[in-house]
Amino acid sequence: MFSLKLKRNLFSFFFILICFEPINHGNATDIGEQIFQDYCASCHTIGKGILVGPDLAGVTSRREESWLFRQIKEPNLLIEEKDPIAIQLLQEFDDMPMVELGLEDAEVKAVISYLKSIEQQVSVSTGIPSEYFPTIIISIIILIGVTLIGLRAGKKKVDVR
Ligand code: HEC
Repeated sequence: MFSLKLKRNLFSFFFILICFEPINHGNATDIGEQIFQDYCASCHTIGKGILVGPDLAGVTSRREESWLFRQIKEPNLLIEEKDPIAIQLLQEFDDMPMVELGLEDAEVKAVISYLKSIEQQVSVSTGIPSEYFPTIIISIIILIGVTLIGLRAGKKKVDVR
């Protein structure tokens, strides 16, 4: 049903998609991911917008790690101490503080390393910011198309007499 050329193009397309699929560097952060799903996902997304609390995409670069630790471990204490960032967040989120979840230190660290791993996945695995991916993929597809056309045109000239 499909011509050979179309099949080949489809194959190249999916091959490129697979190549760009982010690689999952698991293990150490797997526990953190589990904790995130169990304790945080009801109020936070990572990169999918504000839910009950702020979107946590990029949070490990916009905040100090020691601050993150305290925010996750004892958010109420940060507010009591009138920590400027905590107070500002409280105002942004209509005076609704984050609940204290009673996590162990190790669990808090695991979640933080999970949050970090998500930020690194995109930039470290390729060194290219994720917003360039569509452009790169489209360029590659165009290149492949041009190459195929070139090969066909080339073939016509070399016709054996
Ligand atoms: C019941 C809802 C709720 C749950 C569950 C929750 N949070 Fe929050 N979180 C909030 C709200 C609301 C804020 C913003 C207001 C504030 O900080 O007082 C917030 C703020 C934060 C911030 C600061 C964000 C920033 O932009 O600086 C971090 C980090 C955070 N939460 C991490 C977590 C993690 C990790 C978990 C799971 C272990 C978690 N939260 C569970 C509601 C929640």
